This record gives sequence, structure tokens and C-alpha cells, in this order.
Amino acid sequence: MVCSRNFDVNAVDVTSSLNQLNENLAQLEKEAELEIASAQDPKSIEKLRVAFLGKKGRLSLILGGMGNLPSKERPLIGQRANLIKNKLQQLLSDRLNDLKAELLQDLLLKETIDVTAPSIGSFAGNRHPLIKTTEDIVDLFCGLGYSVAEGPEVENDHYNFSALNIPQDHPARDMQDTFYLDGDLLLRTHTSPVQIRHLEQNHPPVRIVAPGRVYRRDSVDATHSPVFHQVELLAIDQGLDFSHLRGTVMAFLKAFFGDLPVRFRASYFPFTEPSAEVDVKWRGRWLEVMGCGMVDPAVLEGLGLDPDVWSGFAAGLGVERFCMVRHGIDDIRRLYTSDLRFLEQF
Ligand code: DAH
Repeated sequence: MVCSRNFDVNAVDVTSSLNQLNENLAQLEKEAELEIASAQDPKSIEKLRVAFLGKKGRLSLILGGMGNLPSKERPLIGQRANLIKNKLQQLLSDRLNDLKAELLQDLLLKETIDVTAPSIGSFAGNRHPLIKTTEDIVDLFCGLGYSVAEGPEVENDHYNFSALNIPQDHPARDMQDTFYLDGDLLLRTHTSPVQIRHLEQNHPPVRIVAPGRVYRRDSVDATHSPVFHQVELLAIDQGLDFSHLRGTVMAFLKAFFGDLPVRFRASYFPFTEPSAEVDVKWRGRWLEVMGCGMVDPAVLEGLGLDPDVWSGFAAGLGVERFCMVRHGIDDIRRLYTSDLRFLEQF
């Protein structure tokens, strides 16, 4: 009997392998979509790419079955495989980007700095007590109308001594043991030379306060140091007398120390006449804190100023003393040792 339908065994085979291929592709597409969507990190994305689209991946395996297809069908399957491949590549790269963005977001959240949070502690530096004391002293005089002047630490004999009425061989030179440098240079033993330098450049009336470092050949002990700090005061005008000096010094000491008892003691300095030393009573003892006096007419004459017209007063004080009395520091060496446990208290 002849079969009415033209039944081609090969045709059945082809159809079934075509169907199988299409089914496999559809299956692959569905699975890949699901797995890509549920991948949780970039590494899994890479694994999925290899598993589905890699050289030995599932897509290649499926396409390996194309050999059974007649050449007419192959391009169709090839096309479909390509579409799936492109789609999966896109899905993989989209998911990878999403995952990376999520990771970045997590990282940013973790590293967020709360700028409003209270700080853990302040490590700001501190001003040295000697600097603070100097500034306070200078400020008080600025409040009385004085302005700041400065001079060099390397001086010469003229400014440090001669112009201050301390000629060569004058015994007063022994009062201040000097560090001599080459020629007639030396390290200034006091801030008084600033008086001369300032009056050379400025015609009276003048009122200056001159802070600075000074040097003497002293050995170090609880009250001495070869380097220390002074503040110099100078006021030149017409009609200034000792009462102005006293009033200025008293006002300053009261502002700085409060109500400590003060006394003036007659003394001697070559550049002032009359001269005085000023003591404050501290811990039951009188402590000398400054020297002062009316500027000696010889000093004024040396500067070409007529002592019958101009008069004035000067003073010099040791910053270390003021600092030690104010803070109850018993040893000057503490001020120079840079011990933070000490310095952080100020
Ligand atoms: N220059 C003096 C010293 O270092 C201190 C001094 C005393 C300064 C009297 C003065 C003054 O201006 O009038 O020992």
C-alpha cells in the first residue's frame, strides 16, 4: 500500500532537531535571564557569562547541534542565537553596572563623614606662656597709647652701651656680662638700645614699648638663663616728670598683677637719673620686677635733643619674672624645656 502522505523520514528528523534547538535556545534564554537577574556580585556575573556565552558555554553547545540542520535552516537558528546572545550580553552588562553602583553606594554610605558630629578632641597648638605674657604686657601699654618698636639682637657697642651713657671702662659694663662677637658686635644685653635707635629715627614726642630677646653670660639656675626676654618702655615729651613715670608703672602693674603691693626703691642706671627699681610683694617677699627712671640728659644730648625742652622716662622689665609670678612658676628652666605636660597648662 502506498502511503497517501509523502512521508519523508529525514524531514521528521530535521523538524524535530529544529524544534529541539529552538526549545533549547528558549530554555537557555529563560534560565539565563533568571540567573542574571538574581546574581548578587560582579564575580557571579562573570561566571554566568562564561557558563552561557563562553566558548564552551551552553549557547555554543546548543549551536553545536546545528550540524544536523539543512543549510537553509541554519541562518535562521544562527540569527536567533545571535539575538539571544546580544540580549544576554546586554542583560549581563546592565546587571553588572547595577551591582557596581550598589557596591559604590554601600561604600559611600559606610564612609560618610558626619560633619556635624562632635570632635574627638582638639589637638590645636598653644602659645608659649612667655609669648602670652609678652603680648599681654605689650597690649597693656598699647592701651595707654604706646606703639611697638623693635631692634636687632646682634648689636654694636655704641647702641648697647656708649649711647646709653655707658662709656668704655665704665663699671656699669660689669653689671651685664656680655657675649662679644667679631669686631665691636655683641649680643644685646638689654632692650634699652631700642630707645636710641628709635629716637634716631623719630622725633619726640614718642611713646614706645619694645619687646625682645636679650643675652647675658649667666649660668643657668632656677632664676637665671643666658637668654631671656625683656620689654622696654620709653616716653619722651615736653614736661614729663617722675610722677608720670610712677603713674604709668603703677597703672600697668595693677592691670597685670591685680592688687599686689608695689614699692619703688632708689637705684642706679647710667641712662636714667633719677633711677628706681620696682618691687612687688609676692609670697611674703619683695621681688624686683623692673628698673626705670627719668631719661638721663646726657642720653638726650647724645641724640641732639635739648634736655631743657624734652624730658621723659624709661623702664625695662624681665618677661620671665612677670610670667613666673603670674603663674606661680618656681624655676625659670621650666619655661625653656618644652615639656608639654608643663606647657599645656597655659
Ligand atoms: N636695661 C636695664 C637692664 O637690663 C633695665 C632698665 C632699667 C631699662 C632702667 C630702662 C631703665 O629703660 O630706665 O638691667
